[in-house]
Amino acid sequence: MLSNGRQMVAIPGPSIIPERVLAAMQRPMPNIYEGPLVDVSLSILADLKKIARTTAEPFIAIGNGHAAWEMVITNSMSRGDKVLVLDSGRFAIGWGEAAASHGVEVEVLLAPSKRSAVDPEAVADRLRADTGHTIDAILVVQTDTASSVQNDIAAIRRAIDSTGHPALFMVDCIASLGCEPYEMDEWKVDVTVGASQKGLMCPPGIAFVWANDKALAAHQNAGLRNSYWDWTARLDRSAHYFIYAGTPPISLLYAMRESLDMIFEEGLENVWTRHRILAEAVREAIATWATPGGMEFNIIEPGQRSDAVTSILTGSIDVDRMREIAEVSAGVTLGLGIGPDLHGVGFRIGHMGHLNPPMISRRDRSSAALDGCTDGWFRRRRRSRKPEQAFRVVGPLAVVHCACDDPETGRRRRNELQTTAFSRTKRVQRRT
Ligand SMILES: Cc1ncc(COP(=O)(O)O)c(C=O)c1O
Repeated sequence: MLSNGRQMVAIPGPSIIPERVLAAMQRPMPNIYEGPLVDVSLSILADLKKIARTTAEPFIAIGNGHAAWEMVITNSMSRGDKVLVLDSGRFAIGWGEAAASHGVEVEVLLAPSKRSAVDPEAVADRLRADTGHTIDAILVVQTDTASSVQNDIAAIRRAIDSTGHPALFMVDCIASLGCEPYEMDEWKVDVTVGASQKGLMCPPGIAFVWANDKALAAHQNAGLRNSYWDWTARLDRSAHYFIYAGTPPISLLYAMRESLDMIFEEGLENVWTRHRILAEAVREAIATWATPGGMEFNIIEPGQRSDAVTSILTGSIDVDRMREIAEVSAGVTLGLGIGPDLHGVGFRIGHMGHLNPPMISRRDRSSAALDGCTDGWFRRRRRSRKPEQAFRVVGPLAVVHCACDDPETGRRRRNELQTTAFSRTKRVQRRT
């Protein structure tokens, strides 16, 4: 009953697409060889440099993030090369697996725990031990969308520099670009990877790679080069066709042009600030609800939490039931917990891209119609540790509680989600 308004995806990508971007795609197919579409392509390539804060050459892959990984591997590596994967969740590992499938040797350096960021000191130690410089590239993600950790790319760069190791430094910014500060040139990143469907507010289907001079030099000797992904062929601007190794992804280019316009109208740094503020609102609500053994942040250290996505462990709360209630009864799709450590025991809230405060819905109980539905929950929490925060509600989660009402009678009913959570809270309180 309550789900019949606008459906909301609160998953960490694909994210909500602005109306302007949707409208921009509704156009007939143009001439693909010359004219305005070529200008759109060239303007996107120019603006992609501004998004990654670089002078490095951008490339557009038709495909998802995996396609961009593939483009990087085939253009910069040879069979038998070695990469050091800095694990902090799921996605750096995935990138490494893609490299391994091409015959690249993969060594994984684990973060100090499954719930923390890459330790730059550990990176430095490993590189110092590599006296023969057998490691050709270091692969890391800025934000891991599974664990919701944010790695400190500048600190990792400083750690690499402290050893003088020459490996290429490659950063996956698929979840963070357009959400969190990123400085490709200042942090001396050699290869950056991005995709359209998260902070860049477009449908999935195009992805991006930026390669600096050092990466382009490595490309000259890369044994895995092939005709489709080849950077050299794609740098040839004598035909529009070469940029994409075939027909351009026309509708997605119109979408991307519009979303870049929106980002620059707002100002990239303002976009980062907006994400930080909204992420703080989400974190504040989660912190309010956190109980030992109940809901808790997956990432333990507050300074390592992403501004694009938050992964939450649910303790005794039935996460599948909770996501079902949110989706079926309230029209909000929460992200699944993914990977061996989060599947079935956690969920994720994506707070990336086209979002403003009402879409996150941090509000005072006194001012929100929605809060009548959450009253019972918060009355109990009010007596708990953090009374000053007890009235704070965040949209996707507030809606979960709203959805706990009986759709027939409209009256609040305590469902198994609340019962489990309350009894858990009581048990924990009794113990302490
Ligand atoms: C950080 C990161 N890297 C890579 C990927 C893979 O991208 P795709 O699913 O578009 O292939 C994702 C997808 O969520 C991601 O979050």
